Amino acid sequence: MNHYAGATTSRRGNAPVCDLRSDTVTQPDDAMREAMVAAELGDDVFGDDPTVTRLEETLAERTGKEAGLFLTSGTQSNLCAMLAHCGRGEEVIVGRDYHVFAYEAHGASVLGGLALCPIAVADDGGLDPAAIAAEVKPNDSHKPVSRLLSLENTHNGKPVSLVRMGVAISAARKAGLSVHLDGARAFNAAAALGCEVADLAAPVDSVSLCMSKGLGTPAGSVLVGPRDLITKARRWRKMLGGGMRQSGVLAAAALHALEHNAPRLVKDHDRAADLAALLRDLNAGDVTQATNMIFFTPANGENDALRARLAEHDVLILGGSSGPIRIVLHRGVDDLAYDRAIAAIRSFYG
Ligand SMILES: Cc1ncc(COP(=O)(O)O)c(C=O)c1O
Repeated sequence: MNHYAGATTSRRGNAPVCDLRSDTVTQPDDAMREAMVAAELGDDVFGDDPTVTRLEETLAERTGKEAGLFLTSGTQSNLCAMLAHCGRGEEVIVGRDYHVFAYEAHGASVLGGLALCPIAVADDGGLDPAAIAAEVKPNDSHKPVSRLLSLENTHNGKPVSLVRMGVAISAARKAGLSVHLDGARAFNAAAALGCEVADLAAPVDSVSLCMSKGLGTPAGSVLVGPRDLITKARRWRKMLGGGMRQSGVLAAAALHALEHNAPRLVKDHDRAADLAALLRDLNAGDVTQATNMIFFTPANGENDALRARLAEHDVLILGGSSGPIRIVLHRGVDDLAYDRAIAAIRSFYG
C-alpha cells in the first residue's frame, strides 16, 4: 500500500491542486527547466559530467567537507553513507522514528549486514546522550561492533538545535563512533535555526542533503564527507545501480535550487506558522508546527470528513482515518492554492 497515493498531477482542469501532502511533490518551474535544458552534460560514471562535478564540489565547499557524491535519492544516500562508514556485523545507533530506521526498509541490514540499533527520539527531535551511551556495545564477541551514530535534522519538521546535536555527538565521540546526519531537510533546519548548513555539518562526519524536497528538484540527493568515505560511497552507489550517466540534467536543477529556492524556505515556514495559528484559532484540534510541517490531530476523529471536504476544493493532505494529519508547505503552493486551502479549512470549521 502506498500511503502517499492520492493525486498524480499538480493540476486538475484549470485550477492548480493545492498538494499539501509533502514537499516532495514540488515540480520544476520554468526557470529550473531552462537550467536543466541548458546544462552541460557528460557521462558521470566516466567522471566527466561537469555539472554533476560542479554540484558535488559546490555542496562539499558549502558544508566544509572534502568531497560530495550525487545520488538518486535520500534513501540511497543514507544507505551508501552507512555502508561506507560500517562493515558487516557493525552497528548503527539511530532514532527509532528517524527515516533511516523507520522508512528505509532496513536496507543497511538487508544489503550490508549492518545492525540497526534504535533508540527513543526526544520530543524536540534530538537523541538523549545517555541513551546513546547505554547502547554502545562492549568489546564482546556476543555483540555487534558499535560504529556509527545516525542523526536527523529536521525531524518531522522540527529543527534540532546545534546544542542538542552537540550533546548527542559528544556521547558518540566519547565511544569512538563516527556520526552521519540525515539532513534531508538540513536547509530548512538551518533557515529555522538562523545558522548555515555548514554549522550543522561541522560536528558530523557525513551529511545527506536532499535536493528534491523543499528545494524543489525532480530527484537527487548529495552526500558530503571526507574524501575516502565518499570514494567508498561511490563504489556502493555503483553496486546499488545508482551510477547515472548524463545526470547533469538533474544536477543543474539542484544548482539552480541552491541559488534560488534555498533562500525562500523561510516563506514556507512562515506560511506553515500562519496555517497552524488558524487551525488553533478554529479550535480544530491538537496542532504542532515547526519549519514547513504541521501535524494536526482533528478533534472528534473528523479526519476522513476533513480530508474529503478539502479534496472537494482540490486541497490534498496526508494521514489516516485517525491520529495526526500532516500538512506540508512548499514552493509548489502558489498564492491562489494557499488561499484556497485556507478557505476550504474555514468552510469545514465555519
Ligand atoms: C528525513 C528524511 N530522510 C530521508 C528521506 C528519503 O528521501 P527519498 O524519498 O529521496 O529516498 C526522507 C523522505 O521523505 C526524509 O523525510
